[in-house]
Amino acid sequence: MTTYREVYEAWESDPEGFWMQAAEAIDWVKKPSRALFDENTPFYEWFSDGLVNSCHNAVDRHVAAGRGDQVAIIYDSPVTGRKAKITYRELQGRVARLAGALRARGVEKGDRVVIYMPMVPEALEAMLACARIGAIHSVVFGGFAANELAVRIDDAEPKAVIAASCGIEPGRIVEYKPLLDGAIEMARHKPDFCVILQREECPADLTGGRDLDWHAFQEGAEPAECVPVEGNHPAYILYTSGTTGQPKGVVRPTAGNLVALNWTMKNIYGVEPGEVYWAASDVGWVVGHSYICYGPLVHGNTTIVFEGKPIGTPDAGTFWRMIEEHEVRALFTAPTAFRAIKRADPEGEFLKKYDTSALRTLFLAGERADPDTITWAEERLGVPVIDHWWQTETGWAIAANPVGIELLAIKPGSPSVPMPGYDVHVLDDEGNDLPPGELGAITIKLPLPPGTLSTLWNADERYVSAYLSTFPGHYETGDAGYIDEDGYLYIMARTDDVINVAGHRLSTGAMEEVLASHPDVAECAVIGVADDLKGQLPLGFLCLNAGCEKPHGEVVAEVVALVRERIGPVAAFKQAVVVERLPKTRSGKILRATMVRIANGEEFRMPATIDDPAILDEIRAALASLGYPK
Ligand code: COA
Ligand code: AMP
Repeated sequence: MTTYREVYEAWESDPEGFWMQAAEAIDWVKKPSRALFDENTPFYEWFSDGLVNSCHNAVDRHVAAGRGDQVAIIYDSPVTGRKAKITYRELQGRVARLAGALRARGVEKGDRVVIYMPMVPEALEAMLACARIGAIHSVVFGGFAANELAVRIDDAEPKAVIAASCGIEPGRIVEYKPLLDGAIEMARHKPDFCVILQREECPADLTGGRDLDWHAFQEGAEPAECVPVEGNHPAYILYTSGTTGQPKGVVRPTAGNLVALNWTMKNIYGVEPGEVYWAASDVGWVVGHSYICYGPLVHGNTTIVFEGKPIGTPDAGTFWRMIEEHEVRALFTAPTAFRAIKRADPEGEFLKKYDTSALRTLFLAGERADPDTITWAEERLGVPVIDHWWQTETGWAIAANPVGIELLAIKPGSPSVPMPGYDVHVLDDEGNDLPPGELGAITIKLPLPPGTLSTLWNADERYVSAYLSTFPGHYETGDAGYIDEDGYLYIMARTDDVINVAGHRLSTGAMEEVLASHPDVAECAVIGVADDLKGQLPLGFLCLNAGCEKPHGEVVAEVVALVRERIGPVAAFKQAVVVERLPKTRSGKILRATMVRIANGEEFRMPATIDDPAILDEIRAALASLGYPK
């Protein structure tokens, strides 16, 4: 029997051989001559001289291999009451036609296409149609506001935008068209055309000369064949939050994405082709790219597009109903979803109504999995609960418990051990390796494995300065933590301004930019405070301009509305407080970490560099007025 240790050592002793072997599972138009291309360090490429197509690997090859009648996508939408199943053969026809229609309108290899869609199968079809003709898609999460969409349109400069007329949140319809129109109006770059999927719940008025109806546009289109692309050709750009309001456009090269994701399906998630794999996330996030779309489809699994929430659609039994009805073997979601279910149904009463015996493993990622939630899920479901750690940049797990190879001992609070391809280090400020148990910056020694980012879109220098410059020869993950004596990793905190709200990655820096734009705000700070349900919640501190006579409550309401309007409801920015001054170091740096500790009721050491310790009492009083610490 192969063990995790043997597999990891096989990679360590021969990385090239390891990845070339993994690449055997992919259909190539032209096989690569080698795995790693490191002629241009610190930029690395994988399988660059190979020729390959993602859509062929995710769809056509399964039809050719006799899997055409297998269900590729299950659509289950408790918010609309709709369900549908799409076989691989049907998917092939639909994607080829959409790709053909895009091509007929001039979309070619290398062109960008922005996709702004809710959780409907057409979102996956749009991604795959782009992949089919070598176009580079960039999916934007539906919970972002027009301004965020505009920023991404300006950066990616898409030839086309594919959108739906609306998304559906419990209790309200989110009209996408006004957001799209607003974004295009705001953006400097204008797409040539938009394709709009009209949804019955809220059809939109199409803009003449620019908007095309999803169905009408495809009528009579010649189905497109798969266009071979070089291994390093970008499959997609996915924007993620960084320190500022300008998001980072993570570039994912095609071949590495295919090879790595396919490898993970069996080895990390332990599923066989033909089995149902469900990632309850959104296509707008990396989990949606890797594990709703590409991973399961490339591996020949059945994937699920779930348009609903863990609670309230209609109740806390929805996940169990899904597992029973669709025979889900592996479920992947964020811990916050389980915290929501646990809060609504602490005794697990809903579980008694359903047969969840199909489920073999539950996977959690996206934020720290608290041991309470892990234990609750494990006891109720009777399956191993696997925490694993990764990020938009890496595209797949840096650390996990690889159940498909071997189920290692589970240590709640730890996402377990590094996966092959990742040489993980914990470093001090000078870049020295720290001994087990000591907290430091978590880094990965270069090169990163296949499937990870190759650079940031149109921003090579930012890629180097954001990730590769603090610790030369290493990629900086932005997470701090430690490794224990057994080699298990513990992820404790971010080292930058990123916070994690309900598994969504957000930038406090971006929120500060919005608050600072309010005419009455002189200075501000946003911190992430601990929250039982969402993990973290943003909280703003505002210093107002001298002479501002507006009631504080009014300013607070205005900045809350402003963040919703500029960033979107997903920021969940609902609380702010007015203070006289912000605590700072003598050099003027705002002491956000200290404010976080006060808000969370944690012990802290008075920063030696603090300018005026008395300000902390004012901060404490302001937080108390909002009920912090809880
Ligand atoms: N389009 C438009 N609005 C959206 C949206 C979308 N796709 N997704 C979320 N929003 C809105 C919500 O309606 C909510 O708006 P509100 O302020 O008017 O209530 C706001 O954004 C915050 O949403 P969310 O953080 O999802 O909180 P919630 O209170 O609606 O639900 C949970 C809480 C825990 C049930 C929910 O966060 C959840 O299911 N989380 C799973 C996390 C997940 O899948 N993460 C992906 C990474 S793996
Ligand atoms: P995203 O890019 O949105 O996937 O967010 C990535 C970040 O989420 C990581 O850098 C971590 O800060 C956090 N994160 C993801 N998974 C985990 C995990 N299993 N445990 C702790 N933090 C996690």
